[in-house]
Amino acid sequence: MRSIFYVLALTLIVASPSGEARVIPDPDQKPAPGNEARQTPLHLANYSPSVNYQLQCLGCHLTNGEGAPRHDIPMMKGFVGNFLKVEGGREFLIQVPGASLSALNNQQLAELLNWMLRDDGIAGGSAPKNFKPYTEQEVETNRGVMIKDLIGHRQNLIEQIRNLNIEIPASVIQ
Ligand code: HEC
Repeated sequence: MRSIFYVLALTLIVASPSGEARVIPDPDQKPAPGNEARQTPLHLANYSPSVNYQLQCLGCHLTNGEGAPRHDIPMMKGFVGNFLKVEGGREFLIQVPGASLSALNNQQLAELLNWMLRDDGIAGGSAPKNFKPYTEQEVETNRGVMIKDLIGHRQNLIEQIRNLNIEIPASVIQ
């Protein structure tokens, strides 16, 4: 009976290091064939704005900017351009954490915002007709300025938009 115990204990001792080794990454592991090139960091990759949106924004804002109001992600579809009609709104679109803290460089973020604000894009005609596209320089100037009271600041912008007699859909979150 006792010998069974010893055999079992010995088996466990012998088996455990190799069991562990399987979950520790092998530092000498080589990439799979055909996958040897190092991955290009996003800020150096020349992806289109729509691909950058998919990689950096879609996870929260969903494909067409529908958002997920149940999870506090506001709907941007057909609305986001209204922020450009009120004071501070233009900077807000750069400074909102999802945009300012993204892995995109300033040029890419400017292009992404311009792409979102197109009439046939997420903004869906909500941007002012005389909208001047964002530039790399403008993103650089505003990006690092942190919004102190994000919720209050956003509420204030929404209130200014409401004062222009623009309807605020519930999914935009107030
Ligand atoms: C982790 C989730 C998340 C990701 C990823 C994200 N956002 Fe957002 N975004 C939010 C939330 C939540 C808000 C509402 C304001 C806030 O609380 O930050 C918001 C608000 C915005 C707004 C202002 C619209 C409004 O109604 O407040 C813009 C513009 C925006 N995001 C752009 C982007 C862009 C561009 C990206 C990708 C580069 C991005 N976001 C990635 C969660 C996210």
